[in-house]
Amino acid sequence: MKTLVIYDSRYGNTERIAKAIGEAVGGEVTVLSVGEADASELKSFELLFVGSPTHGGRASEPMRDLLKQVEAPALEGIKVAAFDTRLSTRWVGIFGFAAGRIAKSLKKKSGTLIGSPEAFYVEGGKGPLKEGELERAAAWAKEIVQSAT
Ligand SMILES: Cc1cc2nc3c(=O)[nH]c(=O)nc-3n(C[C@H](O)[C@H](O)[C@H](O)COP(=O)(O)O)c2cc1C
Repeated sequence: MKTLVIYDSRYGNTERIAKAIGEAVGGEVTVLSVGEADASELKSFELLFVGSPTHGGRASEPMRDLLKQVEAPALEGIKVAAFDTRLSTRWVGIFGFAAGRIAKSLKKKSGTLIGSPEAFYVEGGKGPLKEGELERAAAWAKEIVQSAT
């Protein structure tokens, strides 16, 4: 399945998760940072993973900007999955969370959401990732691929 993983990352933690997802998916997979990605090329993939650090309960500004450039129904027929990195679940009830908002945005552009938006945790604002998160990301990605095929 032709797969694209797009991520933003200020301190490298979300990048590590994105790369672990890319490796777990295997096959025809491309992993791009938000700066390398072009909103118009998303529609040439069958499965799209989008991930961002949580900034104030939502995706980072560069990721929000990229998603804004994707016009509905550009993702029609494309399977989509969303993830984020964050410190804790403490504020999720009040502010929402990045992966949920990314998923909502992708669905609005007619993407077919696969699985639940997923969070991966960091120890502190700059990281590192909590123990086991890379392995959990790989397992999550494999589940998404299974559900998508
Ligand atoms: C400006 C800013 C806002 C943040 N807001 C939140 C937040 O609302 N909730 C949370 O759990 N973590 C928050 N964090 C921590 C980030 O989730 C953490 O820096 C990120 O997961 C690290 O990923 P990265 O290395 O890919 O940038 C914030 C960090 C920054 C820099």
